[in-house]
Amino acid sequence: MKLNRGEKLQQAVHQFQIGESTISLEENPNVWLPRDPTLQLLQMIEKPEYKSLFKQKRVLDIGSGTGIIGIWALQAGADYVAMTDINYSAIQTTLHNLKLNGIYNGDFQFAVFDSDVFMGIQEQFDVIVSNPPAQPIMPGAHENNPASKYNEAREGGRYVLDSIIKYGKSYLKAGGHLFLLGSSRQGYRQTQSAMDSVWGKERWEVLLEKEYSIDPGYHRPYMDYWIAQQNVDRDIRVYLKDVDTFSVTHYNQSLDWFHRTILLHALR
Ligand SMILES: C[S@@+](CC[C@H](N)C(=O)[O-])C[C@H]1O[C@@H](n2cnc3c(N)ncnc32)[C@H](O)[C@@H]1O
Repeated sequence: MKLNRGEKLQQAVHQFQIGESTISLEENPNVWLPRDPTLQLLQMIEKPEYKSLFKQKRVLDIGSGTGIIGIWALQAGADYVAMTDINYSAIQTTLHNLKLNGIYNGDFQFAVFDSDVFMGIQEQFDVIVSNPPAQPIMPGAHENNPASKYNEAREGGRYVLDSIIKYGKSYLKAGGHLFLLGSSRQGYRQTQSAMDSVWGKERWEVLLEKEYSIDPGYHRPYMDYWIAQQNVDRDIRVYLKDVDTFSVTHYNQSLDWFHRTILLHALR
């Protein structure tokens, strides 16, 4: 296809139905497009008991990607939403998608900016929501796919997740809420023990757990790493049904592997 000067390549627009609201998102090949875990998170916080926590509140969406969570929060009646991402293409896409959904500054109060987790953030929020990157950094994996590269984080895929668990309380007002997606791929028990030790056993809960099949096309480069890690620390990252997962030392594509997404909810 030949573009004339100044002409922009038309990207696909996807529509997502969350409760009664329809969110339109223009796809950007450099930005993570929402998958089922994001939609599961949104369906959960769309429930009246959680949605009311966003109304007239100040919200922080860390790793905004296309902007879907922040857009939902503004439509849910938040007073102000800060949407941050380390990927500059995500910042541009979030800004574009806000307009696409009729959300303009003035009618709505929001900010979209480049930040590494909490860097540059100087206020406390009523709610923090995040679907952080879940893969370990793996040189050679998805090298030509920036959206997938930005879904990698150091420390075995835990850097953003652990930073939010560890420092999130300081960025929440007393009585504030955290909604955080984790994956067994980052260490199933490790996340829960980190929550126990930082937030306290009584102050957090698992709102939702969902099992997904390992996608050989996408997860393959990380599988040997996850299997090796869990054989060392005995914390499940990926697993097999009806087979002792810990007796398997290498990825075998002919077996059906699974992982789990966990939605955490904590109260400061
Ligand atoms: C799994 S995607 C989620 C995107 C979007 N929130 C959603 O649910 O569709 C993770 C997002 O975190 C961003 N990210 C990665 N590392 C980050 C960091 N250190 N600080 C902030 N955002 C980061 C990525 O660029 C990506 O947009």
